[in-house]
Amino acid sequence: MPDADKQMKNILITGATGYIGRRLKDRLLTEGNYNLRLLVRNSNKVRPSVLDQVEIVEGDTFNSEVLDKALQDIDIAYYLIHSMESGSDYKNLDRISAENFREAAIRAGVKRIIYLGRLGVKGTASKHLMSRIETGEILSARPDRIQTVWFRAGVIIGSGSAGFEIIRNLLQKLPVMITPTWVNTMTQPIAVDDVLSYLAAAAQKDLPGDTVVDIGASPMSFRQMMTSAARVMELSRFMIPVPVLSPRLSSYWLILFTPIPYKLASALVEGLKSETLVLNDHAIRYFPEITPMPYQDAVKKALREIEENQVLSRWCDSSAGAVCDIKDKDDPASSVLRDQREYPLNGASPDKIFAAACSLGGEEGWFHYHFLWQLRGLIDKVIGGYGLSRGRRERGRLRIGDSLDFWKVADIKENKRLLLVAQMKLPGKAWLEFDIQPDKLVQTAHFIPKGLWGKIYWYSVLPLHHLVFTNLAKQIILRGQRSA
Ligand SMILES: NC(=O)c1ccc[n+]([C@@H]2O[C@H](COP(=O)([O-])OP(=O)(O)OC[C@H]3O[C@@H](n4cnc5c(N)ncnc54)[C@H](OP(=O)(O)O)[C@@H]3O)[C@@H](O)[C@H]2O)c1
Repeated sequence: MPDADKQMKNILITGATGYIGRRLKDRLLTEGNYNLRLLVRNSNKVRPSVLDQVEIVEGDTFNSEVLDKALQDIDIAYYLIHSMESGSDYKNLDRISAENFREAAIRAGVKRIIYLGRLGVKGTASKHLMSRIETGEILSARPDRIQTVWFRAGVIIGSGSAGFEIIRNLLQKLPVMITPTWVNTMTQPIAVDDVLSYLAAAAQKDLPGDTVVDIGASPMSFRQMMTSAARVMELSRFMIPVPVLSPRLSSYWLILFTPIPYKLASALVEGLKSETLVLNDHAIRYFPEITPMPYQDAVKKALREIEENQVLSRWCDSSAGAVCDIKDKDDPASSVLRDQREYPLNGASPDKIFAAACSLGGEEGWFHYHFLWQLRGLIDKVIGGYGLSRGRRERGRLRIGDSLDFWKVADIKENKRLLLVAQMKLPGKAWLEFDIQPDKLVQTAHFIPKGLWGKIYWYSVLPLHHLVFTNLAKQIILRGQRSA
């Protein structure tokens, strides 16, 4: 099949701040050949070095003016969006989003939409999978006006992917695992790099009309995925299957031992009950040059990237909700309750103090009172939040949108300011701000309480705040001094 001409195509990537979108954007930038435009809900989430190489349109798929602007003069548009974390209405939002997108793409004369959905069939589909299938059907509902290439993948294995993080955490934390019977369900995992190869190649190929392309490496059960990853990690692990582990219990099990929250865990568990296998040969037929790497190699690569501090994106980068989790208007300046501490830098330079603040969390922990943070994290997990176990993407460096335990990075001004917004379950809205001035560090915990309960919460944790935040600021300065 002859390739389409390789002139500079105009490409739009949606979901460019998400797990797949971030990596696809990097892949296409490396390949060259394209004029890239990103549709993002908050451009601050795009690294400054990328901003010079792409065009940005800010907004979401619920706004047709934004879509018209984003899709103007575009040849090929990637649709890498979902609203899974938006609450019970997410199916409806996903439907509206896909319809808006398809219609705007037709208006703009876009030639092809490339969509990545999930493997699985309607009969046994979970609610989440059903929504992914519906999205594909909506995007490809007008073959007379626009072509759609719909990839379908199962568990994606890559550093920071939800599937891989679950496997890695369970194996690292549990020498003996009680497993539900569905660990024998068959699936076809695929390395994230192979997913990107398919997505990137689809921008270059001539393909006949609408095409659904199922992608995956060799079939294996979830049990085989676990034992094979254990071998790669050189761990001896035992699995004891029990018939009584219901989806609900399995989800609780997952939130206890992995970084993912209940909502995502229960959606994944629901999905794992049914087979997710490749049902067509279109990957081999249309993309013969791509051979998905074996599962063990994908695991090795993911582990190597974590080891080498090279994790490009994580499952928790995006908010995947109806609105972006990082909002410019959301400023702690309007907070009504504050715990503010000022300490002199004692000779440490602002850049060292900034670096010390940016090294917080994850494996580094939170200094002397880390156990109190852990306790808060445990309470958060129990009530359905992220807890402390999300850790961080990279050691040392942060970018806006990075998760940091139960915080998210809301703003960074190099060597001047680090602003974290709380994503733990709280009766209000909270931030932690490090304002680094030439001679002092001003550390502020901001809080906007929600009603009376919010105020009661704030005043009841004040004694703990005193311990934790005093120590935090002092230790940041000490760390900054030591690295000077
Ligand atoms: N990751 C996997 O393991 C996996 C496996 C199989 C298939 N897939 C499929 O791959 C696709 C991409 O998944 P992903 O894991 O990359 O998702 P993700 O990490 O959750 O990212 C979702 C992206 O969509 C953006 N977004 C959400 N709603 C939007 C809207 N209405 N308008 C504009 N942007 C919006 C988010 O922006 P914010 O940053 O502003 O939130 C984020 O950039 C999905 O269709 C998914 O089903 C993923």
